[in-house]
Amino acid sequence: MAPPATRSVPLLGDLLAFRRDRLGFLTHLARERGDVATFRIGPYRVWQLSHPDLVHDVLVTHAQRFRKGPVLQRAKLVLGDGLLTAEGDHHRQHRRLLNHAFHPDRITEYATVMVDRAASTSERWVEGAPLDVHEQTVRMTLATAGATLLGTDVEADVDLVERAVEDLLSAYQLAFVPFGWRLQHLPVGPARRLRRGRAALHGLVDRAIAERRTSGEDRGDLLSSLVLADRADQLSDEEIRDEALTLLLAGHETTANALAFCLHLLAQDAEVEARVHAEVDTVLDGRRPSADDRDRLPVCRGVFAEALRLFPPSWAMGREAVTEHPIDGHDGAVVQPGDVVVAPQWVIHRDPRWSEDPDRCDPDRWSPDAKAAHPRAAYFPFGGGARQCIGEGFAWTEGVLALATIVSRWRLRCVDGRPPELDPLITLRPRDGLWLRPERRTI
Ligand code: HEM
Repeated sequence: MAPPATRSVPLLGDLLAFRRDRLGFLTHLARERGDVATFRIGPYRVWQLSHPDLVHDVLVTHAQRFRKGPVLQRAKLVLGDGLLTAEGDHHRQHRRLLNHAFHPDRITEYATVMVDRAASTSERWVEGAPLDVHEQTVRMTLATAGATLLGTDVEADVDLVERAVEDLLSAYQLAFVPFGWRLQHLPVGPARRLRRGRAALHGLVDRAIAERRTSGEDRGDLLSSLVLADRADQLSDEEIRDEALTLLLAGHETTANALAFCLHLLAQDAEVEARVHAEVDTVLDGRRPSADDRDRLPVCRGVFAEALRLFPPSWAMGREAVTEHPIDGHDGAVVQPGDVVVAPQWVIHRDPRWSEDPDRCDPDRWSPDAKAAHPRAAYFPFGGGARQCIGEGFAWTEGVLALATIVSRWRLRCVDGRPPELDPLITLRPRDGLWLRPERRTI
C-alpha cells in the first residue's frame, strides 16, 4: 500500500505549511509517517525518503530513473547548462572537462590562497565588536573561489555578488507556486529581482572571459584552461560562462555557511573549543597552516564534519522521476514519472538511529574507527553517485584550513539575545546573519 499523504489545500497542496517551517515540516513528516511519506507541493507529488538505503537507491543504484528536481531545474534560468543543472551526455562531457581543476594536486596549490583569504579577512576583526561571521566567511570563500577558479580578484565585487545572490534567493519562492515560473518575464517583484541578479552575475563573468580572451594569458586557473583549450575541447563563451558562474556560486556560499556554523558550534561548547585551540597551538605553533596540515588537524576536521552534519548546507536534495521507481521494501509504493523525491540531509543527519545523541557536536564521531561504523549514506552533505559534489575536496581543504587559521588567532563568543535562526532556501544559511563577538587569543 502506498503511504498516506498529508491533508493539503487544492492547487497549493502543502506549500503553505512547508514554507512556514521547511525544516520542521520535513522532520515532523519523518517522525509521524516514517521513512517513506508523501505530500504535495503545488503541482508535484513529493516523496520524502528518510532512510539512507532508500536515498542510496535514488542517488546511486537507480540514478538513471531520475533527473534534478524542480528547484535546480529552475536554477537553469541563472546557471544555464552549468555542471550543477546539466543532464545526460552534456553533464558527463563537462564533468570530464572540469575534473582536472579539482584534482588533489590542484587543490593543494589552492591551499595558500584559502589560508591567505581567511587570514586577511579575520585580521580586520576588532576585539570585542560583535560581527556577522556569516558575512565574513562569505567574503573569504567568494574571494578564494574567484582567485582559484576564475583567476580574478572578486573582492571588489563581493557586494555585487551578494546582492545578486539575495535577488536570486528572493525569486526562489517562484519555484513551487503553480505556474510561478511563468511569471519570470512579468514586471513583478521577485521576477524583476531574478532578472536583475542574473544580469549582474552574467556581466561579472562575461568581463572575466573577455579579458582572458584578449590577454591570452594562462593564469593556471580553471577559466584559463576553458578559454584557452585546444579546439577539441573548446567550449563556447556561453558554455564557459555557465560553468564559471556555477562554480562561483556553488563553490562559495556552501563552504561559507559551514564555516560560520563551525564558529557557532565552538562558541556554544567550551570543551570542544578548548580541544580545537590546543590542537592548532600544538600543530601550528603560531605559523599559518599549509596544505600538509589538512591531515594533522583531526579535531578541526571533526568540527567541520559536525557543522556539515548538524547544519548541512544542502539540507534536502530533490530529484524528479523520469520513469517508475518502486521503493525497495515498501510494497505498492511506486514513484511515478513526474513525482519528486526528496532526500533530506537535515532529517537523516539528525536521526538517532544513525548518530548517537545526534544534536551534540562531537568531533570524535569522525575518527577513523567511528567513521567506519557509521552506516552507508547516513551522512551525505555532498550528495552521492555520479552527481556527487565535484568541489568536495576543495571544500574540506578550505573548511579545515580556514577554520584553523581563524581559531589560531580568535575565540568567538555568543552575543546575548542573538541566537542564530535558520533560513533553509537553496542552501541552509543563518537568517539575518550569525553574530558573534571576537576575542583575540594570546598564545
Ligand atoms: C561545504 C561545501 C559544499 C557542500 C555542502 C556542497 C554540496 C553539494 C551537493 C549536495 C551537491 C549535489 C547536488 C545534487 O546532486 O543535486 C553538489 C554538487 C556540486 N557542487 Fe558542491 N558543495 C560544496 C562545495 C562546493 C565547492 C567548493 C564547489 C566548487 C568549487 C562546488 C561545486 C559543485 C558543483 C559544480 C556541483 C555539481 C556536480 C555535478 O553534478 O557533477 N561545491 N554540491
